[in-house]
Order: sequence, then structure tokens, then C-alpha cells
Amino acid sequence: MDTCADWRELNRAMWDAKTPAHLRSPIYDVDGFKAGRLSLRSREIIDLGDVSGKDLVHLQCHIGLDTLSWARLGARVTGLDFSEPAVQAATALARDIGVEARFVMSDVYDAPAALNGSTYDIVYTGVGALCWLPDMSRWAGVVRDLLRPKGQLYLFEFHPVIWMLESSSTTELEIRYSYFTPHEGHREAGAVDYADASTPASAESTVQWNHPIGEVVTALTNAGLRIDSLHELDREVLRRWEMMEPAEDGLFRMPSIKPSLPLMYVLRAHRPA
Ligand SMILES: C[S@@+](CC[C@H](N)C(=O)[O-])C[C@H]1O[C@@H](n2cnc3c(N)ncnc32)[C@H](O)[C@@H]1O
Repeated sequence: MDTCADWRELNRAMWDAKTPAHLRSPIYDVDGFKAGRLSLRSREIIDLGDVSGKDLVHLQCHIGLDTLSWARLGARVTGLDFSEPAVQAATALARDIGVEARFVMSDVYDAPAALNGSTYDIVYTGVGALCWLPDMSRWAGVVRDLLRPKGQLYLFEFHPVIWMLESSSTTELEIRYSYFTPHEGHREAGAVDYADASTPASAESTVQWNHPIGEVVTALTNAGLRIDSLHELDREVLRRWEMMEPAEDGLFRMPSIKPSLPLMYVLRAHRPA
């Protein structure tokens, strides 16, 4: 259900425009990646274990670093994203590093058709993906359709609590936004880019949805998937607020003098045989 007709065009225009800056951003560190770095977090690599020979599709793959990291670990990978510059950059990167991968330009909701009905051992979706999608039920149906029987979903995502908070000073957080997003989404102009703070904030609007964990879990179970585990993490990939401290696994967490917060979550599910 499209709750606000222009969400797709607004968001795609923003992602198309961001791609060149992300290719230069230290957050993505494309040069380090070309030199052999894996962009995945240690937790993801340990959780999924040996992926060699497995067919993996990465939804909302952006410039393909995580997709190509799974390929470097032995998976046969397909990345899918609706941004043409991002898909072009991912395809060029695969060629540059000599890794076999397929990148397809498509909206997530059209993925089964865009991938010609192919099915996969693993559907992977990572950091900062779900907030761009209006409808979790439809997304969960796509995940189910892309999975083979016994195939698994691995979701590594920001915790919805994170989007409620903003830091008003170097030491304090305040609750700025609702946990629940209205159907039509949260429309925002002037957001600063997480990967390129030097670029002036865009005047264009984007439309996002904060999906509560209960909504994601219910959508997946209603689509026929079985939830295997749901772990909430006290750490995340970005140093979002100045007060955060590096954790031993390369992620960032709240300082020990502050209450801990759920900052990311890892959800694993499978399609029954
Ligand atoms: C934050 S990025 C994902 C980043 C990725 N996890 C990474 O770390 O590189 C979000 C991506 O979702 C894509 N995207 C947003 N809405 C989409 C949609 N409806 N269909 C397909 N891709 C979409 C954007 O083009 C963008 O590349």
C-alpha cells in the first residue's frame, strides 16, 4: 500500500544524489575496501558462519560493499537497489576488485519479478534499510518469496528506539520523535548525511518510517516465516552522538556512566521446508 504517492521518487532522488559523496566518504572507505577490507561487522560474519557456495541476495545494497564482502567470503551474491548510480557504482566496484557479483536495479517491492523468480539460501538486509520502506507486510512477503524452503533471513538493523532520540548537548539525549510513525511516513527536509557531514544538508524532503520491532516480527510471521532469534544490541555502527564510546568489536555504545539503550537488533528467521 503506497501511503504517500511521492515517497519513492523523493527517496530515490536523495539516494541518487548521495552516491558520489558516499564513494568518497571515510565511513564507506572504498579505497580500504578495494585493498581487501571487509565492510561487514564481526557479529554478522560470526552469525552467518560459512557462506561459501550459498546463494545470497542483499536487499537495498547501496554501493555494494556489504554484498561484495559476502562474495569475498565465498557466497554467490546478488545485490538489489532502486538507485541507478548506486547499482552502477557497485557493478564497477565488483569489476575493479575482480569479484563475481550481480547487481540489479529495482524497488524492493518488485524484487521477485526483477530477479525473475530466483530464490536464495540467504536474504541479507543491513544497516539503515527498513526505515525507507512504508509497508512491512509487503516487504515480508517479498523476503518469503525470495527464500528457498529452509532459506534464512538475516536482518542487521538500527533499533527503532534510536530514531526517537537526539542529542541536545555533548552529554544528554532527549526524546524528540515518536516511536510510532503515521501511515504517510515522517517527511523531513534538511537531514545531514551520516556519511558526509561536509555536504550541506539537502533542502529536499525524504519520507521515512520507524518500524517498531513488533511490527517487523508480526509481518514476518504472518508471511509464513519462523523467527529463530531476535537480539537487541547495546551498540551500533555509527558514533551517532558525541558521548558514545568505541566498543571492543568496532561498534559504538553509550558510556558506562549512562543507562544502556537498545541501538541495533539482529533478527534471524527462516522459511519452513
Ligand atoms: C542506508 S542505505 C543501505 C546501506 C547499506 N546497508 C550499507 O551499509 O551500505 C539504504 C539503501 O536503500 C536503498 N533504497 C531505499 N528505498 C528503496 C526501495 N524502495 N527499493 C530499493 N532500494 C531502496 C537506497 O537506494 C540506499 O542505497
